[in-house]
Amino acid sequence: MPEIRPVTKENWEALIGLKVRDDQKGFVASNLYSIAHSQFGDEYEGHWWDLFPYGIYDGDQPVGFLMYAYKFDHPRHQAFIIRLMVDENHQGKGYGRFGMKKMLEIFQADDRIRTVGISYEPENETARKLYASLGFIETGEVDDGETVAELKLK
Ligand SMILES: CC(C)(COP(=O)(O)OP(=O)(O)OC[C@H]1O[C@@H](n2cnc3c(N)ncnc32)[C@H](O)[C@@H]1OP(=O)(O)O)[C@@H](O)C(=O)NCCC(=O)NCCS
Repeated sequence: MPEIRPVTKENWEALIGLKVRDDQKGFVASNLYSIAHSQFGDEYEGHWWDLFPYGIYDGDQPVGFLMYAYKFDHPRHQAFIIRLMVDENHQGKGYGRFGMKKMLEIFQADDRIRTVGISYEPENETARKLYASLGFIETGEVDDGETVAELKLK
């Protein structure tokens, strides 16, 4: 059974070694960039967001990476999924869907989170289908060239 584990001083180097296929590089920042970013948070829509990076594991094998952001008093999205990637050698085995479901479970259990946002490159069909299958609905907005979608949890 896969699991997600927070990024720590013990596992960050293994996680920055995970890579997507060359033709997918435009869809996602490197894990090195994301882990650096997570140290400082992010300003978005006039609010300051805290970032939470995790590795996706199968046993002791790191297979992917995800990161979400919280801003509990944001009027629209109290959580935002910032990043999801599965290493090129481990794609198509359910780890991406697992990572998404795990995040949604965490958000669902938190009363402060009513709506979750996500964004993706318009040509990223795999991501679009995966998110739509979990209930994300496109809002019609484009942010920094990316399609925005959201899921109302409560
Ligand atoms: C998107 C991504 C995270 C999906 O992870 P994954 O572990 O490969 O996907 P899963 O095995 O969980 O499959 C999820 C769904 O995507 C589909 N899928 C996976 N790889 C696919 C591919 N190469 N082509 C078409 N569909 C694909 C699967 O059929 C599955 O749908 P199903 O459950 O209805 O059968 C992964 O492909 C990836 O890292 N891509 C590059 C980075 C990226 O685009 N990240 C998202 C940025 S918004």
